Amino acid sequence: MAGWNPFKRKAPTPKAALAEASDSAVVKPLVRGNARRGAEPVGLPRFNTTASDQMSGRGGDRFSAVRAKLRHAFTPSQPIADRRLFAGRDDVLKTIIRSIEDQRLHVVLYGERGIGKTSLVHILSQAAVEARYIVVYTSCGANSNFDETFRAAAADIPLLFHSGFSPTAAETEKGSSLADLLPPEPLSPRKFGDLCAKLTGTRVLIILDEFDRAESGSFRRDVAELIKNLSDRLGRVQLVLAGVAADLTELVEHIPSIRRNIFSLRVPKMTEAEVLQIVANGEREADIKFDADASASVVTVARGSPYLANLLCHHAGHVALDEGRATVIPADVAEAVGQAVREFEARVPTPIQAQVRRLFEKGQAESMALAARAALSIDGPISAADMVAAGEVTARKAEEIVETLTAEGILKRSQDGDGERRFTFVEEGLPTLIWMTWAQRNFQPDPRQARAATGS
Ligand SMILES: Nc1ncnc2c1ncn2[C@@H]1O[C@H](COP(=O)(O)OP(=O)(O)OP(=O)(O)O)[C@@H](O)[C@H]1O
Ligand SMILES: [Mg+2]
Repeated sequence: MAGWNPFKRKAPTPKAALAEASDSAVVKPLVRGNARRGAEPVGLPRFNTTASDQMSGRGGDRFSAVRAKLRHAFTPSQPIADRRLFAGRDDVLKTIIRSIEDQRLHVVLYGERGIGKTSLVHILSQAAVEARYIVVYTSCGANSNFDETFRAAAADIPLLFHSGFSPTAAETEKGSSLADLLPPEPLSPRKFGDLCAKLTGTRVLIILDEFDRAESGSFRRDVAELIKNLSDRLGRVQLVLAGVAADLTELVEHIPSIRRNIFSLRVPKMTEAEVLQIVANGEREADIKFDADASASVVTVARGSPYLANLLCHHAGHVALDEGRATVIPADVAEAVGQAVREFEARVPTPIQAQVRRLFEKGQAESMALAARAALSIDGPISAADMVAAGEVTARKAEEIVETLTAEGILKRSQDGDGERRFTFVEEGLPTLIWMTWAQRNFQPDPRQARAATGS
């Protein structure tokens, strides 16, 4: 039909739209809450599992059960809360536990987006609960404020542990909490600290995750104040803060006053062995196999990011199942990289996507990949020296790359540090997008190359 454009179809009046909708076999079951058999449209995509995680029993293939398990085995969009799926991090966890238990310090965990901070605090919480700590987990938001956050924390601490109340007191018996002792006026760090100083017979961990999201300067100041107050009084309450930051001072303002009272840890990239453990955990959970070359490709592309490892394994697993295999091969990982690139592109503004594509075509692919790899390795502003350290490139070439990419609007000058000129990518997601695009073009799937790259 010449000149036909479905997007130019005249919009129906609301009444006509309603009439049309009520005639539709798709809408009726939704409205009535039950399915009208026989009148269902064929060929439309369906959910494979019900809301209660049961197989829907329709449209499944012989891999439906594996597919359902795969969703749980690799979770790129969710932190890990299940110990069986938590890979590596033994030393990190051990160090955090020692500093909480032996030194009674407060803990600050920081690091790049998706490096595994929340997963780490979930597993830490479980270990603390096992040791009978009371653990209060809070995920901060833009509007977090001291009063609300710590009132909620107080509500999780039973009055039973307040030294001023006997276990048989009426209040303790009816299950009251510290929150019942708080005054109606806004809570101050001093008031909350006073209350914590009276705790006995228990220890409390208050976890403030996503701390970087809290926008209020006074919230951050009050938290620092509370850490000081609790430390001075040998309180039985310790704080764990976690958030995105390139360095500690970026995450916690007013740090000089509390530096001695905190243990700070930058959550590191995963080692190759840890990424391989993510693959192995998922294999076990989902009853699926990654052949050695496919695992090696995941390690090469993920570059120590648990998020990328989960994303690639998730996509590659589904690609293999769609092909009728329960074994993942390098070609599936290559396809997974392509899917990931499309997802990352969508997160970067269109003009920048176009500029990246243009530079890839203009022979700047390698330069961009080198800069991206440096940024992914060090997390934070990069210098030419970081590029030299991260890849096989001379200092002169690294300087040239920095100049070119700055002129092309991909890098921008950042605050200098360590006597070096430092640069950041103009968009947060760019290093990952560039690195994955590079991977898509270069790791198409040559197993020997992937193997050589991981030294296996
Ligand atoms: N130890 C681990 N083992 C397996 N997968 C992990 C591990 N740590 C993190 N992941 C995975 O990495 C991804 C990011 O994890 P998480 O949400 O914990 O990171 P984060 O640092 O809190 O991220 P954000 O900065 O966005 O808050 C998730 O897909 C999670 O499943
Ligand atoms: Mg997190």
